[in-house]
Amino acid sequence: MVSQITKKIEFGQVLEDIILEVNPKIVVETGTLRGKGSTRIIANALLQLDHVATFFTIEVNPSRWDEIKENTNRYLQNDKIDLKLICGLSVPRIMLPTLEEIEQMLLEKSCKFDAKRFYNDVNQDVPDDWLGVILRMYVPDVIFLDSAGHMGFIEFNYVMQYMSKHPFILILDDVSTIKHWKTVEVLKEDSCFEIINFTSRFCIAKYNPEI
Ligand SMILES: C[S@@+](CC[C@H](N)C(=O)[O-])C[C@H]1O[C@@H](n2cnc3c(N)ncnc32)[C@H](O)[C@@H]1O
Repeated sequence: MVSQITKKIEFGQVLEDIILEVNPKIVVETGTLRGKGSTRIIANALLQLDHVATFFTIEVNPSRWDEIKENTNRYLQNDKIDLKLICGLSVPRIMLPTLEEIEQMLLEKSCKFDAKRFYNDVNQDVPDDWLGVILRMYVPDVIFLDSAGHMGFIEFNYVMQYMSKHPFILILDDVSTIKHWKTVEVLKEDSCFEIINFTSRFCIAKYNPEI
C-alpha cells in the first residue's frame, strides 16, 4: 500500500516536471477518469507556464461527465489555460477490438482482468476518433496515453499514424500491464524514441523522427 502511494506521488512529480521542462503549447491526454489524477497534475503544471497552453483530455464514459466538469471547473474558469474536455472515444470505432480479441490480449499477458468489462467500458454511445480529430488539426508537444487496458497499444499505433514526422514527448501509464507492455517493446526497438524515464509503472520517451 505504502509503495503504491509512493509510486503515485513519484509519477505525479515526474509528470509535473516534464511539463515544466517541455513548456508545451499543446498537450493531449486519453483517459480523464474523474479529472482528479493526471488531468489535474498536467493542468496545474500548465498554469505555471508563461503562455496559455491548450490541453485536450478525452474520456469515453459519459456517466463521468458531471464529476469531471466539477473537478476541473477551476481550470475551465481560468484564462491562463485552454482546457478542452472531450466526451468521446479516442480512436475510430472500427478500431475497437472484439470481445474475443480482448480475451486473446489478456491471455497473451496472462492477465486475469474481465474482458467483458474492458469491452463494455469503451463501447459507449459517444462520438469517436477524437485523437484523429485533434491530430489532423494540431501537432501536440506532449501526448499522454492512459485509457482502457486493452486500448494502449491501439492508441499508440494510431497516434503514430499522425505524429511520425513530428518530434513530441510520449507519456505512458501502466507500462507493466496489458495496456502498454507492447508499446514499450516498440519504443525500445525504435531508435527515434529515446526513453528518458522508465519505471515499473510509467514511461516517458522523446520522439525525434530525424534520428
Ligand atoms: C486508467 S483510467 C485513467 C486514469 C486517469 N488518467 C488518472 O490519472 O486519474 C482510464 C480512463 O480511460 C477511459 N477510457 C477508456 N478507453 C477509452 C478510450 N478509448 N477513449 C477515451 N477514454 C477511454 C475510461 O473510461 C477511464 O475513465
